[in-house]
Amino acid sequence: QKAVAVMTSGGDAPGMNPNVRAIVRTAIAKGCRAYVVMEGYEGLVRGGPEYIKQFSWEDVRGWSSEGGTNIGTARCMEFRERAGRLLGALHLIEAGVDALIVCGGDGSLTGADLFRSEWPSLLQELKDTSKISSEQFTRYQHLNICGTVGSIDNDMSTTDATIGAYSSLDRICRAIDYIEATANSHSRAFVVEVMGRNCGWLALMAGIATSADYILIPEKPSSSREWQDQMCDIVTKHRSRGKRTTIVIVAEGAIANDLTPISPKDVHKVLCDRLKLDTRVTTLGHVQRGGTAVAFDRILATLQGVEAVNAVLESSPDTPSPLIAINENKITRKSLVDSVRLTKSVAEAIHAKDFKKAMSLRDTEFVE
Ligand code: F6P
Repeated sequence: QKAVAVMTSGGDAPGMNPNVRAIVRTAIAKGCRAYVVMEGYEGLVRGGPEYIKQFSWEDVRGWSSEGGTNIGTARCMEFRERAGRLLGALHLIEAGVDALIVCGGDGSLTGADLFRSEWPSLLQELKDTSKISSEQFTRYQHLNICGTVGSIDNDMSTTDATIGAYSSLDRICRAIDYIEATANSHSRAFVVEVMGRNCGWLALMAGIATSADYILIPEKPSSSREWQDQMCDIVTKHRSRGKRTTIVIVAEGAIANDLTPISPKDVHKVLCDRLKLDTRVTTLGHVQRGGTAVAFDRILATLQGVEAVNAVLESSPDTPSPLIAINENKITRKSLVDSVRLTKSVAEAIHAKDFKKAMSLRDTEFVE
């Protein structure tokens, strides 16, 4: 009987609980033992039954409609070091886990990929230091690992949507709808900062969905002069047509084309000084991440959870570790290494000021 473990890692995202539920129940339905690793990679580093827990069918009852992640998550510094990963390997073997499914964002899946690639040398070290037996060394030769992408940022290459992104987008749109009402009453301008780290997807989609006046995202930067002039022209035009509200959405990673960050305060200053608009700044913060998942994320998380278990059970030492994606409305398997590499190359392209490349790697040509 195989043992399949699941953990959630990095920033929580609505839909992580339905993902864990689907993984636990699919594993049990397929005759495996199901485990959860509590507190993300920190649970792996700590180990023991308190952190690597066997779960039953009933343990995940009702999780489809619960926000956040009930098994905890963390951004673990120790796992970034080899010593932490060595402990993680030991604890997985001690618990008898054959396969690990990690639900997290690009940072967490980069960690998973590193763990996978280092596995043979970690295993060797554990054997050389007599931490594991020769039988364990032979049995756990291959780390069977799989990623499901849970992040509100929708910043992972090779998948159309990450678990949680549409829930967060829904939250942002509702908040902006509320802001519209008060903005309209006072004829005010609002600068709304949204999350997304270095990815502009949430800002861009929220801008389209709420018909914002102007959107600033990291993937399509211009010079400070250009964005300020363009924003002022557009807002002036809208106001001259009788519009009483102005909404500018700023992605938290927004930058100018010399890579200097653009903050909501910068935008506020331009709207006040140049357009004399009564302007307020709203940083939506963690309300964007909280709450229950929208139906799309629950479905995505469930279907991907089932596929993740199928993928680990079908995997062999020669199959590349999979990442479970969605492409054109189909649940697909991608290579974890390639997805992580492509995602990293977006950040590298932005850093090298090759914004065209960044955009094409993000599959966001429609930004044009
Ligand atoms: O990656 C998800 C995310 O919510 C980002 O959008 C944001 O930059 C970051 O996490 C915030 O992290 P924390 O919750 O640790 O402040």
